[in-house]
Amino acid sequence: EKGGYDTFMEKEIHDQPQAVADTLLGRTDESGALVLDELRISEEQLRAVDKIIVVACGTAAYAGMVAKYAIEHWARLPVEVALAHEFRYADPVVDERTLVVSISQSGETMDTLMAVKHANEMGALTVSICNTHGSTIPRESDAVLYTHAGPEIAVASTKAFLAQITAAYILGLYLAQLRGGSYAEGAQAVMRDLHEIPGKIEELLTRMDRVVEMANFMADTRSVLFLGRNVGFPVAMEGALKLKELAYIHAEGFAAGELKHGPIALIDAGQPVFVIVPAPDTPHELHKKVVSNIQEIRARGARTLVIAHDGDEDVVPFASEVIRIPQCPPLLAPLLAVVPLQVFALHLSTAKGLDVDQPRNLAKSVTVE
Ligand code: F6R
Repeated sequence: EKGGYDTFMEKEIHDQPQAVADTLLGRTDESGALVLDELRISEEQLRAVDKIIVVACGTAAYAGMVAKYAIEHWARLPVEVALAHEFRYADPVVDERTLVVSISQSGETMDTLMAVKHANEMGALTVSICNTHGSTIPRESDAVLYTHAGPEIAVASTKAFLAQITAAYILGLYLAQLRGGSYAEGAQAVMRDLHEIPGKIEELLTRMDRVVEMANFMADTRSVLFLGRNVGFPVAMEGALKLKELAYIHAEGFAAGELKHGPIALIDAGQPVFVIVPAPDTPHELHKKVVSNIQEIRARGARTLVIAHDGDEDVVPFASEVIRIPQCPPLLAPLLAVVPLQVFALHLSTAKGLDVDQPRNLAKSVTVE
């Protein structure tokens, strides 16, 4: 049942091309337009939406943070991301024009369920992005968009994360198409780019030897930092979470722009720092800005573990290690950049002799508040 792999997590990492491909399947008609029949909310209601709030926990919340950048860009709708347990007991501004999108692999997370119920009571439209048919959260929501990652057994989420980003992107593109904004025509091109992602993940998974070696060398490491910017910021958070969960190592993700506002004080000789570098064609020269962050921390002695696209030579002078990911449009990069971080956490956990699939103190679905 582990498909020849040693652990469920390793199998599930290798399931990722399929998880993305299956989640993309059947979302477009012959003309290439998005069709979301399963959504069951009228086009009229969706056109009236003036704000989106994503509610989720943990990895699913990071998928929401990634989606925020894409949905705001494509659909020109404001998107907030709220941790479900914070949303419920704050005093969120929600009405019938608010679309509350919950993201949950299990569909049973109590914090997320309570947030959805709260949103329903306040009259919001609720959509569930969920991986588990027949689970509670989709039942309590007005509509559901299923991710098709297949069952996820390992406690640490991997393929569900990629499928959640994919489904949230489909929702964003669908809203863009409905609203007919400047990105409406672009939606079909993005779908084509998304269809190329599974092959690129496949390719990326063949390049992981050096990442495994790095993990094996680093079994005694006590702290690892992760930096990212734009869609790379939630990827940094997710990389840190994987390492905490699986290897019990202190790990923190930062927005690269925050460095000089405090975290750079943490950098001393030998401190390992993963840096997720934006695609070179990311707007607003973000690529250049992150490259200079690498330079700054390297000058202070950091061990820079740089995740960069094929062909990006600018990072080379400042990188202790370069981990290459295939080229892709900037907003799709999280679907690739997170993979080496998953593989790193998996192998560091193994190198420490820990139980990869069943980390201490954690349960696969958290059904209590
Ligand atoms: C991380 C992880 C958790 C879950 C979170 C939400 O690897 O597994 O952070 O992502 O508990 O779970 P679901 O998606 O089932 O609501």
